[in-house]
Amino acid sequence: MIVLSLPECQAFGLKLAGALVAEHAVIEVRRFPDGESYLRLPPDLRDRSVILNCTLANPDSKLGPIVFAADAARELGAATVGLAAPYLAYMRQDTRFSPGEAVTSRSFAKMLSAAFDWLVTVDPHLHRHDSLDAIYTIPANVVHAAPLLGAWIGTHVERPLLIGPDSESEQWVAELANVIQASYVVLNKQRLGDRSVRIDFPDMSPFAGRWPILIDDIASSGRTMIEAAKRLHELGMARPVCAIIHPLFVGDSFASLSQLSSRIVSTDTVPHESNTISVAGLLAAEIVRILDKLEPPSQSGG
Ligand code: R5P
Repeated sequence: MIVLSLPECQAFGLKLAGALVAEHAVIEVRRFPDGESYLRLPPDLRDRSVILNCTLANPDSKLGPIVFAADAARELGAATVGLAAPYLAYMRQDTRFSPGEAVTSRSFAKMLSAAFDWLVTVDPHLHRHDSLDAIYTIPANVVHAAPLLGAWIGTHVERPLLIGPDSESEQWVAELANVIQASYVVLNKQRLGDRSVRIDFPDMSPFAGRWPILIDDIASSGRTMIEAAKRLHELGMARPVCAIIHPLFVGDSFASLSQLSSRIVSTDTVPHESNTISVAGLLAAEIVRILDKLEPPSQSGG
């Protein structure tokens, strides 16, 4: 087994390889003057299980290099080539809202399915697709970070009140609240545009004295968290802890949210200064399960 990381994913790659007790190497990637990519992999990949580690935040600049790397690994003799993508992109345009739009979740899945033998990711944003199997034709396995967030909240926050920002979050926020024996509420969110949301709260008086924890799978423009934190302030509640699985935080959204919250914690699916909780062990355990299914156990050791 060998973990190969794109240069910007090296820190997570080292943690993943450590958890797998596998070798780790960084793929050399540079741009030619005309913008084309140059890649160089470790030359001896014969009969090895290659795990390409690349989180897919800012996916367009990474798609070319990961597809080239997968193809090169096969030419260099790899037995299998899988993708460990702690954050899986292009999950939100999952239907044609207006005539002529590209359904990029399907197209992206087609491209990755053609390049890799399997993939594993953390909490993909499944909305209209029931599972990744609806769009991926390779084994596409999912691990869930909510229990790790729950464990962190359980040990760091007294009398927490979990707050899910929209109806989609209800299922997992309710489950998490049950596991850590906390109260929870789910808000009503209306998206008005890419960077604009409206959030309505229910009556919060039954939760006086509880510490609000805003919890969401993705912070992208950050507007969901920012608007919810502003409303909490207007309601006279404490500054919330914000717990996020995938901290994309575009533009100045992290700075804006920091002013409204007591703490922001996230998992390391996307490298960010708020990273507090590592999903490397979770992903490693799932990768071992995938490889054991694909090949005899004797070939999956480091
Ligand atoms: C939406 O359904 C997701 O769960 C997140 O709430 C959303 O992606 C957050 O986006 P933003 O940070 O741009 O408000």
